[in-house]
Amino acid sequence: MILEVKNLIKRYGDFLALDHINFHIKEGEIFGLLGPNGAGKTTTISILSGLTMYDGGEVEFLGKEIKRNEMEVKQELGIVPQDIALFEDLTAHENLDYFGRLYGLRGKLLRERIDEALEFTGLMDKRKDFPKGFSGGMKRRLNIACAILHHPKLIIMDEPTVGIDPQSRNHILQSIKKLNEMGSTIIYTSHYMEEIEEICTRIAIVDQGRVIAQGTKEELKSLVSDEEKLVIELEAVNYTIVENVKTISSIRECVMKGNRLEVIGKKDEQNVSKIIKLLSDENIEILSLNVEKPSLESVFLTLTGRTLRD
Ligand SMILES: Nc1ncnc2c1ncn2[C@@H]1O[C@H](COP(=O)(O)OP(=O)(O)O)[C@@H](O)[C@H]1O
Ligand SMILES: [Mg+2]
Repeated sequence: MILEVKNLIKRYGDFLALDHINFHIKEGEIFGLLGPNGAGKTTTISILSGLTMYDGGEVEFLGKEIKRNEMEVKQELGIVPQDIALFEDLTAHENLDYFGRLYGLRGKLLRERIDEALEFTGLMDKRKDFPKGFSGGMKRRLNIACAILHHPKLIIMDEPTVGIDPQSRNHILQSIKKLNEMGSTIIYTSHYMEEIEEICTRIAIVDQGRVIAQGTKEELKSLVSDEEKLVIELEAVNYTIVENVKTISSIRECVMKGNRLEVIGKKDEQNVSKIIKLLSDENIEILSLNVEKPSLESVFLTLTGRTLRD
């Protein structure tokens, strides 16, 4: 176990920001903290980074309790904060040099690690430029470069794709996968469930300072639904087929929306072939057929009654 968080409590005055947060992370995982704004993600990250004190519970990193501002712990951590932390009037290279020294890197090793980080984040040809002139995405990539210089065991990224261009976003998601393949464990926070689904091996859904569910995406989805939705586009509108499909026992709902037949029912491989048979019996041509699996959004909606982005 690389990180264990048990019954973590944090108050801001009277406000309970973290209300018994529990999760653990094993080496090699890309662990996602998914939750809407205000859920407590940044507060959690800030405690893990040793920047904020907590009011109760336990946080163990590599088997040792995290205390505030402990350098020993920080050596094994790479933090990419939600708010970009760079020196605007130092060049990209000088920023990396500063952060590298902070982590105790010097001389040839420091120079090698800076080149490696610039290469990794695609910023080599920007090394002499000032972040002042960078796009949001480039600043974020430079911040990532600063966080990986010392080859930390655990890399924590707090909403690194908010407000950046799609190209930088893809670059960042791909680099997270690559860092993970190279041996780093990752914590990734986001309120974008698509990103979390794409890269995370395990996920904790947080809301109002609590972990409301955790597991692999398959486990989370099976929490809310053993149903799936079929959307079948037909060459023409047809209402008799609706009644026929409803006679299939595992089908709960069937409606015609324009020329789209929408069918909701228990997951059952035979449903598709039964429906296709009914359609061909009526000589109805199928233009397309899609199976829509439940999303993490629907998990959140079912558990909280709210959407992730309201
Ligand atoms: N320094 C602070 N003082 C008072 N309240 C805070 C402070 N930081 C965060 N909060 C509150 O704690 C809750 C969790 O915030 P945060 O951890 O930033 O959530 P997230 O990162 O998931 O959006 C929010 O309601 C926020 O307003
Ligand atoms: Mg936040």
